[in-house]
Amino acid sequence: MKDYTFDTLLLETDENGIAVLTINRPDKLNALNNTVLDELEEAIENIEKDDDIRAVIVTGAGEKAFVAGADIKELNTLNKKQGEKQSERGQKVFFKIENCSKPMIAVVNGYALGGGSELAMACHIRIAEENAVFGLPEVGLGLIPGYGGTQRLPQLVGKSKAMEMILTGGQMKAEEAYQTGLAGHIAEPGKGVGKAKELAVKMLKNGPVALAKAIKAVNAGYRVKGFADEAEQFGELCETEDFKEGTSAFLEKRKPNFRGR
Ligand code: COA
Repeated sequence: MKDYTFDTLLLETDENGIAVLTINRPDKLNALNNTVLDELEEAIENIEKDDDIRAVIVTGAGEKAFVAGADIKELNTLNKKQGEKQSERGQKVFFKIENCSKPMIAVVNGYALGGGSELAMACHIRIAEENAVFGLPEVGLGLIPGYGGTQRLPQLVGKSKAMEMILTGGQMKAEEAYQTGLAGHIAEPGKGVGKAKELAVKMLKNGPVALAKAIKAVNAGYRVKGFADEAEQFGELCETEDFKEGTSAFLEKRKPNFRGR
C-alpha cells in the first residue's frame, strides 16, 4: 500500500482495497478552500493510478460536518472573472470524482452545505448518517451553487424539488434525503463508513473493468450542458453588491441586508 500525505485530506486504504478519503479541516467544518480542491484533484489522480485502491469512501473529519461548503472567506473577494474561474475549478475537480473509474461513495456525516452537497452529489452513491443535513444555501449569500449543484441536484431529486431547495436555500435532513433519492441509505451516526464498506465489498465481487465501464455508461446519460452557464452566472454574481453583502454578513456573523443590486 502506498502512503499518501496531504495537509487537508487523509487517505487510508484497507486490506480489501477500499480507501477512505477524509476531508480534514474540522475547525472550519471541512470547508473547501483552494488547498482542499487542489489536494482532492491530486488524490483522485493518485486513486486512478493506484491498483491497490478499488473503491473510495469520501467523508468529513469531526462530529459536526461532512463539508460546510466552499470557503466563504476565499469567495468574498472574487470579481466576475475570478468567480467564473473558481466555479470552473470546482466543477473540474468534481467531474474527476464523478468520472472516477472506481466506485465513489459519500458518507455524509453532518452538514453537507453548498460545495459539501455538491461534493456528495458528484460521488456515485450517498449514505446519509442520521445527523446529515444537505442544503444549497448559496442564495442566502447572494450567490448560486457553483460546483455543479444546479445541474446535479435536479438529476437526483427532480427539477421541482431541486428548484425549491436552491431558491429557498433550504435544508434536507437524512430521512427526506432518503425519501427523495438524494441518499441511497441512512446509517446511525458513526456507522456510515461501515455501511459503505458493505456496499463496496458487494461491488468489488464484480469485474473491475465492468464497474469502470458501468460508471462511464451511466454518466454518459447525464451529460448536461448547463455547467458552463452555472459558472457564468456564478461569476456575474461575484460583482454584485448582494454577493459582497451576503458573504461579508456570514464572515461578520450577522444577517445580510440585500438590496437587489
Ligand atoms: N466557509 C468558511 N468558513 C466556514 C464555512 C464556510 N463555508 N462554514 C463554517 N465555517 C467556519 C466558521 O466561520 C467558523 O469559523 P471560526 O470558528 O473561525 O469563526 C467555523 O467554521 C465553525 O462554524 P460555525 O458557523 O461557528 O458553526 P455553527 O455550528 O454555528 O454553524 C453551519 C454551522 C454549517 C450552519 C454554519 O457554519 C454555516 O452556515 N456555514 C456556511 C454554510 C454555507 O453557506 N455554505 C455554502 C458556502 S458557498
